[in-house]
Amino acid sequence: MSRDLMFRESRSPGATIKSERELTAMRRAGRVVALMHERLRAAVVPGVTTGELDRIAREVLKEEGAEPSFLNYAPVPGITPYPGVICSSLNEEIVHGIPGKRVVQNGDLVKLDVGAVIDGFHGDAAATVIAGEGTEKTRALVEATRRSLEIGIEAAQSGARIGDIGAAIEDFILSRPQGFEYELVREYTGHGIGRRLHEPPQIPNYGPAGRGPVLKPGMTIAIEPMVNIGGWETTVLDDEWTVVTADGELSAHFEHTIAITESGPEILTTLAG
Ligand code: MF3
Ligand code: CO
Repeated sequence: MSRDLMFRESRSPGATIKSERELTAMRRAGRVVALMHERLRAAVVPGVTTGELDRIAREVLKEEGAEPSFLNYAPVPGITPYPGVICSSLNEEIVHGIPGKRVVQNGDLVKLDVGAVIDGFHGDAAATVIAGEGTEKTRALVEATRRSLEIGIEAAQSGARIGDIGAAIEDFILSRPQGFEYELVREYTGHGIGRRLHEPPQIPNYGPAGRGPVLKPGMTIAIEPMVNIGGWETTVLDDEWTVVTADGELSAHFEHTIAITESGPEILTTLAG
């Protein structure tokens, strides 16, 4: 390894390597997150409040003996600690929407972002659900975003680099999937995950391939493309958390926590594994 590369890598550390024991805990946390998603997805109907969705998530955590991952999270000093168990973001809200009295309407894009902690390890996954009937526009956005996550995960091979993930996602999203033009959010990224919800490295959903830390077996990362119908720019609401599209256009979000293995990426936030 050249000096230059060593320097660059030390400034941009890769994810920590988890032991088999730690991966077992990550799988358990991931399974709880998947269970929460299953219950929440069924509850997304017109008329439900986002606060009710939060309550359902809390119930699953209790049943499974897990702790909330997001509640009271405060990444920077001075910010109001995050007040929800889940994030529920509607329509032009991209991520970090706070659950409350808001009533879900027919056709709403409901982004559910869910975390759980078991044995000190975090799982984190998000999905976008259409309440009631969607339109061609909303269905295409959801499908393109879901597919972009699959493509990003497929790029997360041992020996590849972090930048390869974002490059694969961006190539797909800029190819006008479903015949629509989209932009990828740039100001929020995926992340390493483990004993903390957010660990190095950041995982952008755009940018050139071949850059960033090398992916190694035992690394655990959360990949989370956020796709906008309009421009990529974002704004944060006065509640200090809710991230919305600057132009008020719709946005969709999908996320999985995965482990890098010798034989390819393993999705941890699933019931299948
Ligand atoms: N998946 C989201 C993220 O990584 C979870 C955020 S939780 C919150 O940003 F507490 F920050 F809202
Ligand atoms: Co995340």
